Amino acid sequence: MGKTVVVIGGQWGDEGKGKLVDFLAEQADVIARATGGANAGHTVVVGDTKFKFHLLPSGTIHPGKLNICGNGMVIHPPQIVKELEGLEEKGFKITPNELLISSSAHVITDAQIEIDKAKGKKIGTTGRGIGPCYMAKIERTGLRMGEFVRGSSPEAQKLRPFVADTYVPLNEALSAGKNVLIEGAQGTMLDIDHGTYPYVTSSNPTAGGACTGLGIGPTKIDSVIAITKAYTTRVGRGPFPTELGTDEQTMNESKDDELTDVDIKKANKGDEYCLGKVLRKRGAEYGTTTGRARRTGWFDGVIARYSTAINGLTSIAVTKLDCFSDMKRIKICTAYDIDGEITKDYPLSLERLEKAKPVYEEMDGWACDISDIGSFDELPKEAKAYASKIEELAGVPISVLSFGPERRKTLIMKEDELF
Ligand code: GTP
Ligand code: IMP
Ligand code: MG
Repeated sequence: MGKTVVVIGGQWGDEGKGKLVDFLAEQADVIARATGGANAGHTVVVGDTKFKFHLLPSGTIHPGKLNICGNGMVIHPPQIVKELEGLEEKGFKITPNELLISSSAHVITDAQIEIDKAKGKKIGTTGRGIGPCYMAKIERTGLRMGEFVRGSSPEAQKLRPFVADTYVPLNEALSAGKNVLIEGAQGTMLDIDHGTYPYVTSSNPTAGGACTGLGIGPTKIDSVIAITKAYTTRVGRGPFPTELGTDEQTMNESKDDELTDVDIKKANKGDEYCLGKVLRKRGAEYGTTTGRARRTGWFDGVIARYSTAINGLTSIAVTKLDCFSDMKRIKICTAYDIDGEITKDYPLSLERLEKAKPVYEEMDGWACDISDIGSFDELPKEAKAYASKIEELAGVPISVLSFGPERRKTLIMKEDELF
């Protein structure tokens, strides 16, 4: 009997979905992406080769699997052609046996990209035309892939064989008992309905988007796993209660800035900007799509709890536990203080969220490298306690723990959540 596993981002995106999706893709027959466009950036490391995907599902490098770009996606044809050609150069010739694009996915035009670049600054968009394309879709004036490939442009000709009514093979795969992996993009807090509106993307990266963005029913889903970083990051503007250092300090930092012993010393004395810098440097927190430095902060348990509720999570996969190796003390947000009222419920009003002061619990760090451990038992007791605290705050078990970019740096904690 096959399974359907939905993997989404539990925070503001960049949780490391690429690595986990690639890991799970090995056991999947079909890998499908439901929402978003080239605003996403997944990094997958295979041996010595780094693959960066923006539109193609991460399973594309696994031979013999069917990858689907769903109807909920927005696609700039030159970008997907570029990704296909990039893979061809690395020796992966992708055919329609391996990739299908929904005929009702919407096409991003060059004009929409220009509009986004001109108008998206206030939100800090990725400038990929995402908002304007979804606007056209909702306004019912958009261009869909099925129509696009009937044209005569070189991209239309190249993509024509890949375009299909993808709900058919997807539902056939479900009926035939195949394993289906649904790969989310962005994250819960960037959801147009449930995120920090208006500082959000224009689609539904939450679990419900997996159904509407692909044409499958909720009854077909077996597990919903949120990839959750052991700390928090956000790219672009918008509220971020547990942020370390200011938005401005982060923007002024260059990618080539080294992490020095002085930074680490200052961090351990409680300097917030340096604590944030340690996480940014250890976690290589620079956008895959835009190269922007990501804002970093402590783990936010209020958001974790919210994500469990609105996504109906069955478990979380915790990534980047290794990035705390320099820290003697770690804070974790357990609640918000809003105008003197302590709450564990995430507030939907932007005004209340902007006033939220995190209530922290302080924990001992492990201050050592854990990137070579082979089992959960080998983790320092402080790291185990930290992982348990995350689990307690999220209210669902941890199914996977990741402590490095490579595939082998992954611990499976709950087999029945996976294939
Ligand atoms: P999504 O945007 O959520 O899909 O994440 P991503 O896979 O695109 O990751 P992105 O490139 O945005 O940033 C994550 C980086 O962290 C990648 O370079 C990953 O290889 C790396 N990474 C993933 N898991 C871990 C981990 O557990 N520890 C460390 N140190 N790095 C990780
Ligand atoms: P847009 O999706 O390009 O319209 O950008 C809207 C907001 O979502 C901006 O704050 C972006 O930084 C953010 N965003 C979009 N895609 C991603 C992603 O894949 N990872 C992290 N942030 C993203
Ligand atoms: Mg990313």
